Amino acid sequence: MKASEASRSPGTPAEKKISIVGTGYVGLSTGVGFARKGHTVICVDIDEKKIEKINRGEPPIYEPGMADGLKEAVAAGRLSATADLKTAIMDSDVTFISVPTPQSEYGSADLSYIRKAAEDIGSALRGKDGYHVVVVKSTVVPGTTEDIVLPELEKGSGRKAGDGFGLCMNPEFLREGRALEDFLKPDRIVIGSMDSRAGDAVEGVYSGFGAPVLRTAIKTAEMIKYASNALLATKISFSNEIGNVCKELGIDVYDVMKGVGMDARLSPSFLQAGSGFGGSCFPKDVAAIAAKARELGQETKILNAVLDVNKGQRQKLVGLLEKRADGLAGKKIAVLGLAFKPDSDDVREAPSIDIIGMLAERGARVSAYDPQAMHAMKSFHPGIEYCDKPADCLKAADACLILTDWSEFKELSDKDFDAMNTKLIIEGRKVLNPESVKCFEGICWP
Ligand code: UDX
Repeated sequence: MKASEASRSPGTPAEKKISIVGTGYVGLSTGVGFARKGHTVICVDIDEKKIEKINRGEPPIYEPGMADGLKEAVAAGRLSATADLKTAIMDSDVTFISVPTPQSEYGSADLSYIRKAAEDIGSALRGKDGYHVVVVKSTVVPGTTEDIVLPELEKGSGRKAGDGFGLCMNPEFLREGRALEDFLKPDRIVIGSMDSRAGDAVEGVYSGFGAPVLRTAIKTAEMIKYASNALLATKISFSNEIGNVCKELGIDVYDVMKGVGMDARLSPSFLQAGSGFGGSCFPKDVAAIAAKARELGQETKILNAVLDVNKGQRQKLVGLLEKRADGLAGKKIAVLGLAFKPDSDDVREAPSIDIIGMLAERGARVSAYDPQAMHAMKSFHPGIEYCDKPADCLKAADACLILTDWSEFKELSDKDFDAMNTKLIIEGRKVLNPESVKCFEGICWP
């Protein structure tokens, strides 16, 4: 059996040639996932260092399963990376755009990368014969694909959408830390298309995924992504708000949400209260759709509250610590966990960034430990102490905050915390094992 056959999942569809513009965690997970499904993938990026790494089979980001998946795909000749967009377009039938859409200073999404990608793909298409489908995978506010991507493609290619090329919007629902798994086993595949020819082509790429496919208009697909993330973020802020009341009443909000989540209409997911959501999606996406609504003269009372509650959790945690520690000036605070979630080295919008800032403002000395994210945090807080292990972090600390629910923190016991000056331990994420650690409290639990 050839290596390429060995790496292909059974029952996969006919091979397609796919190019992917942008190799962040979405682009790369999509590329490795499609390669695993038997397609041939060319990843395009402007960062030469990233390209070299990918071609050596080394992922430029930390994502479980990615190292093996990428190595296998590269070795099988199913995935390569290049800076040469033109050749990538020539050698593929379908192009996915997965460039970032960061938050601008007004909360709205910055669409400059997506515009540039569309412009470049348009020019590359000018020299190509035959039908080509362009698929927007980046999260873009409703209207962007048709109002920005489409005209750029038409202008660059000199062709009309529909005949010369097809256009689709296919949102991603990948969680960092589980991106590859989410890609290979999606709950649903949403394909917004300008016409059935383009939509059918993209559906063909996804045949063999075994997930329900929802075909929609392009704008609807764009909105599905925002509505999904906004509702998930709402569930979290709702749990946090209820959790704050529970805290005052001496109730554990996790016991409450267990009972709530048993209602089949609600599901138990995303009801975990704590120091709030972070990451590259929820804060940015909720702000972007609220900004779009404002532009349309619509008020988003719920979405605004979701963001307010989220910010408030960070202050609440520091307020609780300050009260219990009787002031923070001159105290050593051990922070365990910096990443916005476990199994990730990402600190974008992580609660830890603001919380460490507030601790420093109050005169505390911070020592921090995270199994993956210390390097990333150094650009936000270069002056704090970074420790190689929890023990160094906890040594002579006056208090400890737990901000990421890394599974290794479940193994911590009283013996580890004995090294502290004062055993004041507050969880922002519920992770410690009460059998092993006798005395601690949580932000929303006793
Ligand atoms: C999210 C969406 O889940 C994914 O579908 C989308 O495409 C990208 O954004 P991600 O940001 O990777 O994925 O992480 P996710 O697991 O959703 O968690 C986001 C944040 O919410 C984390 O900070 C997490 O700790 C927090 N969270 C999550 C809670 O505070 N409580 C919960 O119950 C769930």
